[in-house]
Amino acid sequence: MNRENLIIFDTTLRDGEQSPGASMDIDEKVQIAKALEELNVDVIEAGFPIASKGDFKAVSEVSKAIKKSTVCALARALDKDIIAASEALKHASKKRIHTFIATSPIHMEKKLKMTPSEVIERATSAIKIAKTFTDDVEFSPEDAGRSDLDFLCKVIEHAINAGATTINIPDTVGYNLPHQFGNLIKNILSNVKNSNNAIFSVHCHNDLGLAVANSLSSVLNGARQIECTINGLGERAGNAALEEIVMTVRTRQDIFKCDTNIKSKKIMKCSRLVSSITGFPVQPNKAIVGKNAFAHESGIHQDGVIKSRETYEIMRAEDVGLVSNSLVLGKHSGRNAFKQKLKELNIEYLDDNELDQLFFAFKELADKKHDIFDEDIIRLSNKQELTGDIIQFKYMKVSTESGHKPAAEIKLEVDGEVKESKCEGDGAVDAAYNAIEKIVNSGCKLVLYSVNNITTGTDAQGEVTVRITKNNTIVNGHGADTDIVKASVLAFINALNKLQQNPDLSATKKRGI
Ligand code: KIV
Ligand code: ZN
Repeated sequence: MNRENLIIFDTTLRDGEQSPGASMDIDEKVQIAKALEELNVDVIEAGFPIASKGDFKAVSEVSKAIKKSTVCALARALDKDIIAASEALKHASKKRIHTFIATSPIHMEKKLKMTPSEVIERATSAIKIAKTFTDDVEFSPEDAGRSDLDFLCKVIEHAINAGATTINIPDTVGYNLPHQFGNLIKNILSNVKNSNNAIFSVHCHNDLGLAVANSLSSVLNGARQIECTINGLGERAGNAALEEIVMTVRTRQDIFKCDTNIKSKKIMKCSRLVSSITGFPVQPNKAIVGKNAFAHESGIHQDGVIKSRETYEIMRAEDVGLVSNSLVLGKHSGRNAFKQKLKELNIEYLDDNELDQLFFAFKELADKKHDIFDEDIIRLSNKQELTGDIIQFKYMKVSTESGHKPAAEIKLEVDGEVKESKCEGDGAVDAAYNAIEKIVNSGCKLVLYSVNNITTGTDAQGEVTVRITKNNTIVNGHGADTDIVKASVLAFINALNKLQQNPDLSATKKRGI
């Protein structure tokens, strides 16, 4: 059977970043965009350029870094938004402008204070302006899930006539049920006269936990693009999870007439990268990418799987990038075994130099930790180092004792000069952070501190993500170590270096929509 293509439009860097508490700096966005390109997503929505300088720069940097996937920028149906989007996309090999305006009665009346005909007018004029910059224009009638069907069809018909090549139907507030949303797509496709001239897309939010179900129901009814995010990150309860959409369609090819271009073996790597950058751990029982997604605890299940895998498994762990035997290397493993492991895990590296760096980091870790698991290696490969750090970690000593205030001694090299300090705190991490701040005197505010264990066991690496802000600038820092206080110190230093070295790199907080 000749399968139709289901386009995967990833919005982790735009709607995903609108997730409360999630914020990525520009380098991190580029890193995620590259991982999405490796995953083979068709379209990467890189940001909302008019929202802030940081967002503009992020779209521009992603545009320079990405060659195969289409890079998309979001714009309200306003000239200035569309011009900003087109400028930010200037360097993209393949570019798309995504413009939107709300069409539900409540949004038009209360938020936009516009009449339905003014909305149509604004939408068509925005599409026509976008068309002057690129042929690839997507239009979204925001809150379509609560819009009047006849009006919605009318707006869409005008949008297609104005040149929109993709029509995206958002369930902005996650209100629809699967049968209802599927019917909406079916009705739109049959009622809009020129529907053949555009690809129909859906964008579902997860307020009732139905984003994936609603998206899939719409695919069964003719949608051929899904907007989704890694780990289901996104505004409020999030967006439809890319990994769940892709694996459902692929696992149930008996039901779906289409398939995606996604290289599913790269899913796990992307999921871990997004989790580590945002500091949002993935829940253990999360479908596809949770730690327990392929783990069998019950004896009956284990027995069944040993006899025949299909008794309890509908997908293979390898197909999402987990290798079945996850205990891998140790201190004595050589470069070749390490290289082989990278291959099994689908981890790519640029050249021998990068391989050497990875191998060195692996050896350092193996000195501290007896068993190195796949997760540890994936973490090593996701490590993002800044070269020429101004602040270098030299030494730390922390003491905690019942009945005494925790204290930390820290030694750092700042711009070539070794400096030390000693501070107390409410806990070991707090004491260490106080000591670092006493040396660096950054004046930053810590807005996120998150610890996640990379594998299990008391010798597991703790992965720490911190987020600091100063003068409207936000940066993330990451650190991993078998000692979580040290991981915390490294994460803080990493963030401080980003803040000091290159303030322009950071995305500034925005809430544009
Ligand atoms: O949820 C929504 O409606 C959006 C649009 C901008 C597509 O994110
Ligand atoms: Zn959205």
